[in-house]
Amino acid sequence: MTLPDKRRIRAAFARAAAGYDAAAALQREVCARLLAQLDDAPPARILDAGCGTGYGARLLRERWLRAEIVAADFAEAMAATARRSAPAGTACAVADVEALPFADAAFDLCWSSLTVQWCDAAAALREAARVLRADGRLALSTLGAGTFAELRAAFAEVDRHRHTLDFAAADRLADVAQAAGLRDVALARATITLHYPDLRQLLGAVKAIGANALGEGRRRGMMGKAAWQALTAAYERRRTAAGLPASYDVILLTARK
Ligand SMILES: C[S@@+](CC[C@H](N)C(=O)[O-])C[C@H]1O[C@@H](n2cnc3c(N)ncnc32)[C@H](O)[C@@H]1O
Repeated sequence: MTLPDKRRIRAAFARAAAGYDAAAALQREVCARLLAQLDDAPPARILDAGCGTGYGARLLRERWLRAEIVAADFAEAMAATARRSAPAGTACAVADVEALPFADAAFDLCWSSLTVQWCDAAAALREAARVLRADGRLALSTLGAGTFAELRAAFAEVDRHRHTLDFAAADRLADVAQAAGLRDVALARATITLHYPDLRQLLGAVKAIGANALGEGRRRGMMGKAAWQALTAAYERRRTAAGLPASYDVILLTARK
């Protein structure tokens, strides 16, 4: 899979930080489902790798009141937003999940929700395995190849560019986790479909999580009126009673070191 340039990803998430939580219905739903995969055994130290605005860290705090939590994100604006809302006992750090600045075996639980689709997943999982203590748990969510199927199909009627991340790498995630030295790897997969009143709001929601569906240099204003109208018409043909659908192919992975 060809990954987009890391500086561009970081900048896109930094821009998204302020409006992120309002558009984060998906993130909240995925975090709830990921948390449900974990038993109650209390972890003393938790890492939230790719914490965004800190929603997952707050959820983990509610579940495990006494845990020490480190919330880390490589976009400074995200880490700063997380820091502002962090409950007591939560530290926030600017860090790349592919090269974590933490000691080996430092954590009992490594949590990472909707982040590794942006990364070299093998590097991120090796780092997660390294910072976990023996028998420590990993809980990770990411997006699979079915994500934004409607958006990709609508764009395919308009031009030949790829407008979203290539999510296919998630299909190999269990193997990647095992290769990173993790065991008891379990995968769960579910399609979550959200609906939006119009294309502008749908694309706004995609962009607000940091993914610029129109791609570099192809913002709405630069797209051309005819192409925009063609895209709108193509998406409108997919409208349901609930609105314009956007599907997320959500993958939940749990494992132990
Ligand atoms: C879609 S958001 C999810 C945030 C949060 N985990 C949640 O569930 O709300 C993805 C986050 O991953 C961060 N991210 C992407 N690549 C990263 C990397 N290599 N290292 C650290 N953070 C990264 C982005 O800055 C962004 O905040």
